[in-house]
Amino acid sequence: MDTIESRITIKRLHPLFVAEVTGIDLTQPVPHEDFRVIWEAFNEHQILVFRDQHFDDETQIAFSRHFGELETMIAHPGNDWNPGHISIMTNLGKDGNFLPLDHPAMLHRERNEEWHSDSSFKPVAALASLLASRIVPPVGGNTDFASARAAYEDLPAERKAALEGLTVLHRMTHRDMDADKGYNEEDKKRHVVTHPLIRVNPVNGRKALYVGSHAQEIVGMPPEAGAALLDELTAFCTQPKYFYSHHWRDGDAVMWDNRCTLHRATTFDKTKYKRKLHRTTIAGKAPDIAFGAMPER
Ligand SMILES: [Fe+2]
Repeated sequence: MDTIESRITIKRLHPLFVAEVTGIDLTQPVPHEDFRVIWEAFNEHQILVFRDQHFDDETQIAFSRHFGELETMIAHPGNDWNPGHISIMTNLGKDGNFLPLDHPAMLHRERNEEWHSDSSFKPVAALASLLASRIVPPVGGNTDFASARAAYEDLPAERKAALEGLTVLHRMTHRDMDADKGYNEEDKKRHVVTHPLIRVNPVNGRKALYVGSHAQEIVGMPPEAGAALLDELTAFCTQPKYFYSHHWRDGDAVMWDNRCTLHRATTFDKTKYKRKLHRTTIAGKAPDIAFGAMPER
């Protein structure tokens, strides 16, 4: 266990990534020196689990803004058609009752059960996401994470060299768009972008594989061959040794680095247990935050 500079305590939860942060109330204004500790931990550990935080939307947005500009969501089934900075992950309707399993919002959220990196289909992909509990189920409904940085670092040198410089096409929708439920025709045409396969954290120079379900083709390769390579790399990143499953407790808030981790929701009994988590998403920059710099506040 390391105690860095202050009352903030940072404890590793997995040998390769993920740290638990306690000793700070993030619903209150966060002093610059405390934010520096969190920012350094975020870049090092990739995923931070904050305990005993009781955010409302206003305080969650205020804390998230320390990391940079927030993404603004359009009205969408994934956020109950509420445009703004909050995405809602829930099986409940606005009235607090269970949504039918075939409801468009439920179909859309099934997509979260595939390994992905948030907003990788956007020209400026997300830097980080902060998912904070409102209602947690007693069983299931975990969020699984995988370190695509640890996986990359374990690749043989010749494999790293072969992958360096490849460019990947990302889409918001599934590869098989006809099978894609929860998206309309306009969604299917929108958000087709390219990103490098190897993503570099400019703060520490660490590299990661930038893959997941939105990564669908390799530029310059036949689509099937590119898809097979991306599937292989996603499977490589999500092996048990690079894997952490977060079981939600009341008061948990988890922040992850979308540049170097993959995540997915796990299922639960959606007709029996209530689950409601609110997400803020910090937009990246193009290019990323300057080497060694703190984000602008
Ligand atoms: Fe996600």
